[in-house]
Amino acid sequence: MEQSPIKKYRVLADKTLIHGDEIVYLLKIDAKDIADSARPGQFVNVYMDDSSKLLPRPISIADAEDGVLTLVIGIRGKGTAYLHTKKSGDYVRIMGPLGTGFLDAGDVSHELVDSVSSVNLDSPIASVDVTNLSVRADLRDASHTEHLDPATKHILIGGGIGVPPMRLLAKTLAKSGVKPDDICVVLGYRDEPFYENGFYEITDLVYETSDRDNRNVVDALNDEKLTSGIIYACGPTPMLKAVKSYAQLHEMKLLISLEERMGCGYGACVGCTVKTTAGKKKVCKDGPVFDASEVVL
Ligand SMILES: Cc1cc2nc3c(=O)[nH]c(=O)nc-3n(C[C@H](O)[C@H](O)[C@H](O)COP(=O)(O)OP(=O)(O)OC[C@H]3O[C@@H](n4cnc5c(N)ncnc54)[C@H](O)[C@@H]3O)c2cc1C
Ligand code: FES
Repeated sequence: MEQSPIKKYRVLADKTLIHGDEIVYLLKIDAKDIADSARPGQFVNVYMDDSSKLLPRPISIADAEDGVLTLVIGIRGKGTAYLHTKKSGDYVRIMGPLGTGFLDAGDVSHELVDSVSSVNLDSPIASVDVTNLSVRADLRDASHTEHLDPATKHILIGGGIGVPPMRLLAKTLAKSGVKPDDICVVLGYRDEPFYENGFYEITDLVYETSDRDNRNVVDALNDEKLTSGIIYACGPTPMLKAVKSYAQLHEMKLLISLEERMGCGYGACVGCTVKTTAGKKKVCKDGPVFDASEVVL
């Protein structure tokens, strides 16, 4: 299946989730082609209309259902502040879904064909020739949940703006037959929680922590004795490092999603490389999900 890489999609709903020192908002977008093929852990590139902000902003897919894509965005700088001005009825330009997902088997990755290699990042977006980009059909259509071991406990850890992608993961695990008791969700916030309610629809095993209460996600893992199973984590690097130490201590498999700063967002530059045991890899193309044992954090 071929996909036009950058398309305009209509915003169906917008909502500010928290508005304090931190601002986090949600956009629901009418994007059937993206929503239908999105896998948990993948992201989209969102482009600005403003020519002073040429590079796309990578945003994780928080939910995808009935042709509707949900993005949850925290304001960090100009791009994410600009997107906050998008309201229901407005249009946004998006490319996706991109990257590897948490449940992608083995080395399966969501590759773009080689036609991107000559893209000049200094060019205005309008002149970047991405018309020939496509996503490998065999990878797009793979289901990627057949290999799940029903006896495994799945521990989902989201920190801050890493919480939202865990929602689609929890939902996908539940839909693929994993029992609610085998899905544990550990959420770490700086202060106020956001986007937490949907997790309680999937499992009772939801543990919220916050810096305000001096309790972090590793405290929750220890308190709840979550010492076996597979861990999936997305959040700030210090959190990922702490979770990696925990996973190593208990000999647990850990998959992490990296939020590296990006350039092009689809493999055409070297703006997002990370060191791995197999050399340098690109977060946007080889990731964002990696086996933690392969990544130098
Ligand atoms: C795969 C992936 C998925 C992501 N998913 C989400 C998401 O679901 N929701 C969300 O709100 N954000 C997400 N991010 C982070 C988001 O892309 C950045 O916050 C955004 O690009 C910042 O753009 P800006 O113009 O607002 O800020 P800028 O003006 O570009 O930067 C503002 C500040 O944020 C820092 N920053 C910028 N990009 C990143 C980054 N990628 N990681 C860490 N710090 C950064 C800069 O160093 C600077 O200090 C994701 C990033 C990646 C790589
Ligand atoms: S952002 Fe350009 S290669 Fe990843």
